Amino acid sequence: MAATRRLSHSVAVITINNPPVNALSSSVRHGLVKEFGEASKDPSVKAIVLSGASGKFSAGADIREFSTSAMKTVSLEDINATIEASRKPVVAAIEGVALGGGLELALACHYRVANAQSRVGLPEVLIGILPAAGGTQRLPRLIGVPAALDVIVRGRHVPATEALQLGIVDEVVQGNVVDAAVQLARKVVGRDLDKRRLSINHVPSNPNMEYFLDTAVEKAKKQFRGAQAPIACIEAVRASVQKPYHHGIEKERQLFLSLWATGQPQAQQYAFFSERNVGKWTHPSGGRWDNVKPKPVRTAAVIGLGTMGRGIVTSLAKANIPVIALEQDAQQLETGKKAVNALLEREAEKLVKQGLTPAATLASVCFTLDFAELSAVDLVIEAVYENMKLKKEIFSKLSSVCKPDAFLCTNTSGLDIDEIASVTNHPDLVIGTHFFSPANIMRLLEVVRGHQTSLTTIATAMNLGKILGKVAVLVGNCPLFVGNRLLGPYLEQANYLLEDGCYPEDVDKVLEDFGFAMGPFRMMDLAGLDVGWRSRMEKGLTGNKVPPGTPARQRQGYRYSPLPDMLCEIGRYGQKAGKGWYQYEKPGGRFAQPDPWVKDFLQKYRETHQIRPRPVNPELILERCLYALINEGFRVLEDGIASGPEDIDVIYNNGYGFPKHRGGIMYHASTLGVAKVLDVLDTYYRENPDVPSMKPAFLLKKLAAVGGPPLKEWRTQVGSLVNKL
Ligand code: 3HC
Ligand code: NAI
Repeated sequence: MAATRRLSHSVAVITINNPPVNALSSSVRHGLVKEFGEASKDPSVKAIVLSGASGKFSAGADIREFSTSAMKTVSLEDINATIEASRKPVVAAIEGVALGGGLELALACHYRVANAQSRVGLPEVLIGILPAAGGTQRLPRLIGVPAALDVIVRGRHVPATEALQLGIVDEVVQGNVVDAAVQLARKVVGRDLDKRRLSINHVPSNPNMEYFLDTAVEKAKKQFRGAQAPIACIEAVRASVQKPYHHGIEKERQLFLSLWATGQPQAQQYAFFSERNVGKWTHPSGGRWDNVKPKPVRTAAVIGLGTMGRGIVTSLAKANIPVIALEQDAQQLETGKKAVNALLEREAEKLVKQGLTPAATLASVCFTLDFAELSAVDLVIEAVYENMKLKKEIFSKLSSVCKPDAFLCTNTSGLDIDEIASVTNHPDLVIGTHFFSPANIMRLLEVVRGHQTSLTTIATAMNLGKILGKVAVLVGNCPLFVGNRLLGPYLEQANYLLEDGCYPEDVDKVLEDFGFAMGPFRMMDLAGLDVGWRSRMEKGLTGNKVPPGTPARQRQGYRYSPLPDMLCEIGRYGQKAGKGWYQYEKPGGRFAQPDPWVKDFLQKYRETHQIRPRPVNPELILERCLYALINEGFRVLEDGIASGPEDIDVIYNNGYGFPKHRGGIMYHASTLGVAKVLDVLDTYYRENPDVPSMKPAFLLKKLAAVGGPPLKEWRTQVGSLVNKL
């Protein structure tokens, strides 16, 4: 039964029952209509409580129904209108989550009681739509426009304690929320409910409201770069201020339909489900997320407290896992300790602001210089310098000091996991856990399996990701794994564009207008240009290992751009040095300004190499950079390094600032059409045979040859290729 009803002291308790999250599917909506209708008619019922089964009120509309005819049946807003108009008081008993349509349902009730651990919110914006069952009209009437916009436009989950302060809920209880709601319902029987009927009340407003809303639109345009849903949310809220409720609802509906026509909701919902699907990992041996059990991680250790290590320690402490943090000398240990402390304090401040009690403190972290102290931990994460010799030394030591069944993880951003594992006694317990910077904030975790990594090790690392609140994606072992591997051809194209006549700010603008959080040059400046430079030196692509007589713009017969090496040679390492592709107000400064020096440098470079600069239009800039990413994505798939296009998309959306409203790199390729992608790459490669990264991938050709099937069928085509792992 999608909704059930029982009687408790003359109060009808209607319970939504649709596991796992009580989504308001068509059958739930029908169930609600039936049970609510009967409770309304029943003279023995004096009041009604709405609740959700299994500790969750409701996560809102069933997103899977959006593109089906099920949406055309009884609408949630009609149900909300009936509930709000009820002569019997209706109280929502909120447990777990009341999100999207779930909160809209609760807002239609006359009172709301929430359990202290619950969260409420209108996160529709995160799946490309707006609250479409009255949320944009009722919430501003309840808590005012500024607070409502903050909740709706950011789509954030508001903890119960904060929801109480904001006035979204009337009571927060520690114990049984249904009992508390029944009590409240009995107390309010016979009271005048008009003040509680949000739709007949006015939105608190002031003379500056229009200016406030216009400013919010401008801010959202800048912040969300091309995503339409945040703007639609603000416009719907504007209607709540200017128009009576029924007009506002009509505006909400129109905005929903026009958003749907942009294609962004479909892309963002694909991204939503992809994030959930990547957790359902499979291994070529038949091991899967649902047939391999993870081992518990009760204690952990982190080696190296630099940029990454300190964030990883903070993440573990936040998840209540006691951590031992190890450094190489007393000074580094002290610096690391201060840094971890500062991060934990910042995390605590955020929680306190939301009315929550921080659990993680420095007391759960033990700082040491002594490897012997790691003898009992369940799992170690190594985050020392990116140097194979050093990593092998550390892993060999770990293998001798840790207990034999301890999991040994490396945070390497691209070194060979098998080589690192080769120095240990149990290579089956070695795995890559590639966090992203800042590790306590970024949601992505690339879990890299080596040849010998056991299924239990994979399951444990994937589960650890979940415990840390990350989205963990299982990938295969190849140089640079998935995310950083895709960056190679992308940055290569960005550098070639500078040679051809562009400036860093031109290229960045195009990619940022497309929706990337940051263009390639700002990103390189932030990450530090020296990181790539050192790796190219190690590979003999630059520095004194380059054979004498090698042309400046060629390596091994292929095109090469020495531009980033030249910047590094004069110390322009990026943001941390105060200069790189841009100039900054000071070393470590955050404001990138175009640098006349860079302009002059590029002009001289082109003259030296007799390159005649040509105008490159924005479409071409976008095409070059994006198609380079897409092509490498296809190669990653054909190599079996990522198990499906969704995995690549989740990695790029969560680790590299790809705009979620475009779904992901591979999703974007599917909307462009594989035939078009192939055609553009083919043309480029024919004209530039010295750029092998743009040679169309075999899988891309194969997909085009079978007529460009939809993305959900790509896995089948990948499956028929030989897995190179
Ligand atoms: N519709 C359909 N399926 C949903 C769903 C929804 N609203 N919310 C979650 N699910 C599914 C997930 O896909 C997953 O399915 P799976 O087990 O087959 O992979 C399962 O429920 C469990 O979800 P999670 O893995 O995400 O579980 P968590 O416990 O980590 O998180 C949650 C729970 C916080 C509720 C999270 O799922 C979430 O944020 N859901 C989306 C909430 C949302 O966006 N609501 C708005 C919907 S649109 C709407 O209401 C329109 C209205 O305005 C008319
Ligand atoms: P970092 O240079 O900031 O820190 C490395 C730390 O390791 C230093 O504090 C150093 O004292 C410590 N260390 C070195 N040798 C040690 C030893 N023998 N014992 C104990 N500690 C030792 O480096 P960062 O940036 O934190 O990188 C660490 C690892 O994470 C590298 O493998 C890197 O490739 C990877 N990574 C880095 C990312 C970044 O954005 N910085 C992103 C993802 C991965």
